Amino acid sequence: MYTSRISGLGHFVPDNIVTNDDLSKLMDTNDEWIQERTGIKERRWIENGSPETSASMGAKAANIAIEKAGIDKDEIDFIIFATLSPDMYFPGCGVQIQEMLGLPTIGALDVRNQCSGFVYALSVADQFIKTGMYQNILVIGSEFHSGGLDVTTRGRGVSVIFGDGAGAAILNRSDDPERGILSTHLHSEGKHARELTVEGPSIAHWVPEILNNPDDLSYYPYMNGTFVFKNAVVRFSEVIMEGLQTNGLSPSDIDMLIPHQANLRISQFVQKKFSLRDDQVYNNIQKYGNTTAASIIIALTEAHEKGKINQGDLLVLAAFGSGFTWGSVIIRW
Ligand code: UT7
Repeated sequence: MYTSRISGLGHFVPDNIVTNDDLSKLMDTNDEWIQERTGIKERRWIENGSPETSASMGAKAANIAIEKAGIDKDEIDFIIFATLSPDMYFPGCGVQIQEMLGLPTIGALDVRNQCSGFVYALSVADQFIKTGMYQNILVIGSEFHSGGLDVTTRGRGVSVIFGDGAGAAILNRSDDPERGILSTHLHSEGKHARELTVEGPSIAHWVPEILNNPDDLSYYPYMNGTFVFKNAVVRFSEVIMEGLQTNGLSPSDIDMLIPHQANLRISQFVQKKFSLRDDQVYNNIQKYGNTTAASIIIALTEAHEKGKINQGDLLVLAAFGSGFTWGSVIIRW
């Protein structure tokens, strides 16, 4: 068996900064509420009229990751793209990346696991590498939320949280069993699918039904925030412990926890639960909001660029979100 290690990282966020005060001009909200409940100060939203999309941002992040990995594009064997905001209903963004980056006709897979998307994508990539099937896999998480949010007071419980952005990693095959991805842990609980969802348009609820009913808002995200929050803190803690125990480790072995950036209060709860210092948990929700499948990879890229991750460090990635789905990745850097 081989080990997968992350050999290149990259991220891209749109230039357009939207502050909490900017949002208060669109809806009945305010900086104090948003910061107190979520920790978010600002987020990036693709500017109206910009050609940027989930795929194009993903391609930009991918180009950086490929360069940092020091490989030629032709050495990539497979693409995995995690998003809940694909450019098209189908096909997925993965094939667009193959075309945008001018890659050979390699396989491309889209992962639809929302906030856990990047953790699921890493896990899939890890299996392909471990078994020796592929040597280099391009893994992308990218979201264009702003185009699909209800930015009126009606949608304020959801729309103030989400931001746009993308991150990418190259996973590379290694012979060193001591370093790289040690294990991944994935879970789901579909009975809560409707607690955080965009229901329409779907094959069962197609466009004419929505257009014929002005009260039908199924094309906007719905979130039962308090219920999601309560489940998130429990599942984050469980799946981090599961990952540590699988490897005979304990919370005191963690050098850096990178949680999905859902809410600063969730990260702080987990930090306290595992008695981690501020410098052992990386948060950037303050400036990007919740970028769903992109959040962990943007945070990982930033933490790495800032020199906060060193060789030999034990890194824990953990996510929870719509589905419900949740998961963790334990990495020896
Ligand atoms: O990434 C995927 C996973 N997602 C999560 O983990 C998110 C988990 N949930 C949360 O982060 C929190 O539940 C939220 C930040 C979404 C909401 O915070 P909350 O403390 O649960 O607030 P709430 O929904 O209970 O709303 C409290 C009040 C309500 O008013 P009333 O009914 O008490 O009068 C809302 O209408 O705050 C009101 N409210 C707002 N006020 C100002 C809701 N959104 C806003 C807003 N600005 N943007």
